[in-house]
Amino acid sequence: MTGPALEVAGLRKTYTRDRRTLAVLDLERLSVADGEFMTIVGPSGCGKSTLLHILGGFVGADAGTIRVHGRDVVAPGPDRGMVFQEFALFPWRTVAGNVGWGLEVQGVPAAERAAIVDRHLELTGLVEFRNHLPGELSGGMKQRVALARVLAFDPEVLLMDEPFGALDAQTREAMQEELLRLWERTGKTIVFVTHDIEEAVYLGARVVVLTARPARIREEIAVDLPRPRDLGVRKSIALLDYRNRVGDLIRSEVMT
Ligand SMILES: Nc1ncnc2c1ncn2[C@@H]1O[C@H](COP(=O)(O)OP(=O)(O)OP(=O)(O)O)[C@@H](O)[C@H]1O
Ligand SMILES: [Mg+2]
Repeated sequence: MTGPALEVAGLRKTYTRDRRTLAVLDLERLSVADGEFMTIVGPSGCGKSTLLHILGGFVGADAGTIRVHGRDVVAPGPDRGMVFQEFALFPWRTVAGNVGWGLEVQGVPAAERAAIVDRHLELTGLVEFRNHLPGELSGGMKQRVALARVLAFDPEVLLMDEPFGALDAQTREAMQEELLRLWERTGKTIVFVTHDIEEAVYLGARVVVLTARPARIREEIAVDLPRPRDLGVRKSIALLDYRNRVGDLIRSEVMT
């Protein structure tokens, strides 16, 4: 496919509560290339989750347009898959049942569904756990199930809101590696929100730094670190430089 996978223009959002309005978003332009891994960081409460919810079609904007491969989007759709910090799995369904849920809803025939589920259990290393219930899994595994469930839809764009925020440091690193492998294998377009600056730099081809509320684009930083990203990259001075640059931008937003 040609052209950007995701294009946002003139996006504005305010929340009104008790007759007071809160301006949350004011994004002039944001464009994500097909197959790009874009990460978004910004001060706490600046509007990152609101942005992702709007991109997902779960929350309406006051103004602006969102296009996925040139098509206007206003409602949730299978072209965009969301992954949140909370795993939001169905506790009464097995791992395989969770991964196949969206396909069931879409009315995909059982045999085809089973094949897709198998492929995605394989892709996320969950084959042995296919009959486990979510309550029997670790946090990292639950997040893998959530990822497999979204990927099974075959969305064009993955929207991820602090997906590893609830995980301990080691599991988080392992999940970052897995996500990069998945991205390399599937070529998906990913928009990934995090408050972890190192994570944003390590994963992203481009880091978008937002301002304090209402969120505008403060700066877009192309991350020119080698791929595949590995432990050498993780520990490199070059990564530290990017991390400091992004950190300084966010600190300056918090202080103003
Ligand atoms: N449904 C809502 N009604 C009113 N205000 C809301 C609503 N959702 C979010 N807000 C407000 O909008 C602002 C942005 O919230 P949002 O969750 O998008 O920020 P965030 O950048 O994701 O924050 P965090 O870094 O804590 O995840 C906050 O001030 C929040 O209180
Ligand atoms: Mg948030």
